[in-house]
Amino acid sequence: MIQVRKAVLKDIDKVYELVNQYADEELLLPRTRESLIINIQSIFVAEENEEVLGVACLAVLGQDMAEIRSLAVDENAQGRGIGKILVSKIVEETKILGISKLISLTYQVAFFKKCGFEIIQKEEMPQKVWTDCIHCPKFPACDEVAMAITF
Ligand SMILES: CC(C)(COP(=O)(O)OP(=O)(O)OC[C@H]1O[C@@H](n2cnc3c(N)ncnc32)[C@H](O)[C@@H]1OP(=O)(O)O)[C@@H](O)C(=O)NCCC(=O)NCCS
Repeated sequence: MIQVRKAVLKDIDKVYELVNQYADEELLLPRTRESLIINIQSIFVAEENEEVLGVACLAVLGQDMAEIRSLAVDENAQGRGIGKILVSKIVEETKILGISKLISLTYQVAFFKKCGFEIIQKEEMPQKVWTDCIHCPKFPACDEVAMAITF
C-alpha cells in the first residue's frame, strides 16, 4: 500500500538520487543535497513497505500561488498511480495553506491534465518568472509548458 508523508532526513539520499536521475535527462531541474535539506519541510515522499518510490515538493511563490516541484517516481514504480497520489497530496497541502492556485512547469502535459491541471500562459505566473525563471539557463527560451489548477 502506497503512503505519502512528509520527508525526513533519512529520505534525502533517495530523494536526491530520484530527482537528479531525471535532471540528467533534463526532465527536472537538478537539486543539491543542501537545497533538499533546507527545504525538507516542503518535501513529500511516497513509500511502500518503507521504501521511498516517489517525491514531490511544494514551493510557495506568493499569497495566491504555489508550485509543485521535483516530482519524480522511481522508474520501476511508474504507471501505478504514485505520481497522481503525490500531486493530490500537494493539492491538499496547497488548499490547507489557503493558496488558490498551484502551478507546474512541465513536459508531462498529459499526466498533469489527468491530475486536473490546464495549460496557462507563462505571463499568468509573474512571481515564478521574476523570481526563479530569470536565473534559469533556459530563460527566456523555456520550452516547458506552464500548467495550473485553481481552487
Ligand atoms: C510524470 C511522472 C511523475 C508520472 O508518475 P506515475 O506514477 O508514472 O504516473 P501515474 O501512474 O500516477 O499516472 C496517472 C495518470 O497519468 C497517465 N500518465 C502518466 N505518465 C504519462 C505520460 N508520460 N503520458 C501520458 N499519460 C501519462 C497515466 O496513464 C495515468 O492515467 P489514468 O489515471 O487514466 O490511469 C513520472 O513518469 C516521472 O517521474 N517522470 C520523470 C520525471 C518527470 O518528468 N517529472 C515531472 C516533472 S514536472
